[in-house]
This record gives sequence, C-alpha cells and structure tokens, in this order.
Amino acid sequence: MKIEQVFKNNQKWIEEKLSVNQNYFNDLSKGQAPEFLYIGCSDSRVTAEDIMGVQPGEVFVHRNIANVVNNIDLNVHSVINYAVQHLEVKHVVICGHYYCGGVKAAMQPTDMGILNPWLRNIRDVYRLHKEELNCIKDEDARYNRLIELNVQEQCINLIKIKAIQKAHAERNLLVHGWVFDVKTGKLIDLKIDFKKILKGIMDIYKLT
Ligand code: CO
Repeated sequence: MKIEQVFKNNQKWIEEKLSVNQNYFNDLSKGQAPEFLYIGCSDSRVTAEDIMGVQPGEVFVHRNIANVVNNIDLNVHSVINYAVQHLEVKHVVICGHYYCGGVKAAMQPTDMGILNPWLRNIRDVYRLHKEELNCIKDEDARYNRLIELNVQEQCINLIKIKAIQKAHAERNLLVHGWVFDVKTGKLIDLKIDFKKILKGIMDIYKLT
C-alpha cells in the first residue's frame, strides 16, 4: 500500500464516522472511560478492537511481543497503573494467540540477538512447565499449550502487582486470560481464577 493511501483512508473514515454522528470526534475529545485494559501481542493479525467488537474509547491497549508482563518493564507497569488507578478499568485482559511467532522463537534454543532477554520471559514459562510440555509429543500441540501457559503465567504476573490486588479487593477488578485463534477468529477464555491464584502465591506476593 502506498503511504498516500493511508491518508485517503483516514479521510474516508472521518466522513463515515461523521455521517452517522456529526459530533463523533468532538465527543471523543472529551475524554476516555474504557472498562477494559487489554494486554496483547504486537502481531498485526490480532487487533484488540476488532476481535472484541469494540469502538475507540472502549479499550485501553498495550501490546508487545508475546503479551508479556515483565517485572522490570516500566512501560507495561505504567500502562497497568494508569489504567487501574486512574481510568479505573473493570477488567484486565491478557490476550495471547495461536501461531504466535514470539512464542515459537522462544521454543527454539537458538541465539536471537537483541531479542534474547525478552524471549527469556517465555523460555522461563517453558522451564516452569517443562514436565507437562515435554509429555506432549505433537509439536503443534506443545506450541499451542505453551501459548496458553504463557497467558496463564502473565496473568499470575499481573496478580503479583499491588495496584491489581488493591483494586480487586476494593472494587472487584477482574483479570482474564484469553487466547485468540487466528485460524478460526475465535476468542477462547482460559477462565483464570484470581482468588485461587492469589491464595496460592499470597505467602510471598500479597502486597496489600
Ligand atoms: Co504473537
């Protein structure tokens, strides 16, 4: 696509929005009150608004390679704290996806250069669940399972955060783990049990 086309598309989109509501952009400019914080993969095929069927203003979004909540990533922690404490979102979602290149790369014991430290987050998930994963003989099934386990572990990383624990206790903020299946378009809920996870880790991680 030529870059000029992007600006033509933008003009067409403005006209479409205004034809339905003359005040559309004026209303958007007044502020945002999203109910969801979505943390997903940077993969171009997995767009939060499209797969959730929501409009601008309805979801606060953070994306990185393989939807990781790394403890020393100031970027993701700033997003989480702003969304939870200031926007007061009701739900925090970790959304992984099948056919995730980041997870695939992490499964191979090869040097990925500058990506090594980032992929190590996922390699650590593999190590934590090595017993279960190594029992899965089919490589695609093992790959899919690591994608799900990575979502689960990133949900646990969320639950370790004080702002999340506090908002859960005070106003029942919920954490969700989802997987998007690129091949079918289906969004799968892994049914993360916040209370059970917190109970299991609270001897070390409970901060409130
Ligand atoms: Co991905």
